[in-house]
Order: sequence, then structure tokens, then C-alpha cells
Amino acid sequence: MKKYQLLFLMLYLALCVNQSHQRILSQKHDAKKFDEQFLHQKQNVIVSKDCELINLVKVTGPESIAFDCKGEGPYVGVSDGRILKWHGPKLGWKEFAIPSSIRYADFLSKSTDNSGRLLKYDLHTKNTFVIYTGLMFPNGVALNKNHSFLLVAETTRRRILKFYLGANNLEPEVFAKLPRVPDNIKMNDKGEFWVALNAGRLGKIDDDVPDPIRTKYDQEGRILKQLDGNNEDVFSSISEINEVNRTLYIGSVTKLYVTILKF
Ligand SMILES: *[C@@H]1O[C@H](CO)[C@@H](O)[C@H](O)[C@H]1NC(C)=O
Ligand SMILES: *[C@@H]1O[C@H](CO)[C@@H](O)[C@H](O)[C@H]1NC(C)=O
Repeated sequence: MKKYQLLFLMLYLALCVNQSHQRILSQKHDAKKFDEQFLHQKQNVIVSKDCELINLVKVTGPESIAFDCKGEGPYVGVSDGRILKWHGPKLGWKEFAIPSSIRYADFLSKSTDNSGRLLKYDLHTKNTFVIYTGLMFPNGVALNKNHSFLLVAETTRRRILKFYLGANNLEPEVFAKLPRVPDNIKMNDKGEFWVALNAGRLGKIDDDVPDPIRTKYDQEGRILKQLDGNNEDVFSSISEINEVNRTLYIGSVTKLYVTILKF
């Protein structure tokens, strides 16, 4: 287990050329049937009424959001490739790092083929390994609290896959099926996962949760909470949700701001 934890220190996804040995995932996804199933679960729903926005300056797309170990931030990755840090209302945003100037380059063009791969990068040997192929538009990725498994959002197939890291066989399980396409996954400090439901509101889904934009799961894939976007524009097309101290920080590739929602 220890060895695996080291090996999996850093994981990332790439969408690459077709592989000859692609494995096709067995479970068929019946979207309509699933939507019905989803609706009958009476869950704890947060309705997004009062939210606060932190505007960006001359840049868009706070796609991913993080805090450092001192609780400072948020830090956001924005569409021009920079990482900005929020220093509070007085000082505003300051540039933190410029890791890359090309983002999102290949994403959308590859959304309907199954050439997505899950890669593992070993920080010590600097080697990269392909651990799984045949994914359709893999997107968010998150380790669980004790690093025994990894969740991957497979956007086009509207589901979350679970890979057990200690296992010899890295064949994933379906962790959750979703009513809309998932984007990023983020773990909170209790080890629960928020999954962003993105890209298009596909019409009316349900009376209790007419506009699900985020769903929170426990480690076994049970739904704990849903966030209802209330059809408000601030919540269209969101990419990530980060829960800290009963506050949700919500990012979007298309927006000019980070949305803050307390619950
Ligand atoms: C969350 O609360 C803890 C304890 O009060 C604090 O140390 C931490 O800075 C807070 N984090 C954020 C991001 O507000
Ligand atoms: C890690 O967490 C998972 C999920 O809660 C649990 O099933 C597993 O037993 C834990 N493994 C260890 C080594 O603690």
C-alpha cells in the first residue's frame, strides 16, 4: 500500500491518440432509466439563493480552485494559463504562477472518441505510465482520503469511475451515474466528493431538483447532497466546486468570477 501511495503521488489525465489495445468498459449506460432512478431519491438539496461573487480582472475562466495548507486563497487556474491567488477584498487577485499558456487545447475535439487515457507519473523516477485506456473524455480526477482509490469523471459517458490503486487489476467500477455530464471532482476535508455537473442543462429533470449542478457523494458513491442551480446564469456551465468550512467555492471555464455560496 505504501509503495502505491508514493507512486500515485501525482496523477493526471491525457487525451491522446487511439490505442490498439483499448479496453471497452462493459457496463452499458441507459441515460433515461438512470434519470428516473436519480429523481426518486429524496436528497438533501441546497438551493442557490444567496451567493457572493469575486470578480476576476481582465481574464475569464476560473476553472479550478484550491486553498493552501494555511487556508489562504482561493487560488484559481484561469483561461490564459495563469494561476491567481486571492488576497482579500483590499488587495484583490495577484498572479501566483504561470505554468502554461495553452490550456483546453485538445479537449473539446476529443469528446466523442474513446482515446482518453489515465496516466501515472512517478515523481521519483520521472517516468509516466499508462494505467488505463479507452476512456471517453476523462475529465476530473480525485484521490480518496487514504489514497486507496481514485475517481475519474468520464464526461461523455456521464459517469464516475473508481480505480482501486492497490489492486493488480486496474479495471474500474462504476462509482456513480449522473443526470448531466460531469466535470471536475473535488474531495472535501471529510473525504466526501463534490462532482460538478456541467455543459448544458438538458431540460427539466425533476421537481425537487430541477436544475442539478453539483452532487456530493460519500466514499461508497451514495448521494449526500445536491446543489440546485435554480436556473440562474451564475450557475450555468460550472466546472468545479470546492467545499471549505461549510462554504462552496464554485468555478467555471466561461465565467468572469468565482462564486461563493455558504450553506
Ligand atoms: C477553515 O477553518 C479553519 C479553522 O477555523 C481555518 O484554520 C482555515 O483557515 C479555514 N479555511 C478557509 C479557506 O477559510
Ligand atoms: C481506505 O478507505 C476506504 C474507504 O473509506 C476503506 O474502505 C479502506 O478500508 C481504507 N483502507 C485503509 C488501508 O485504511
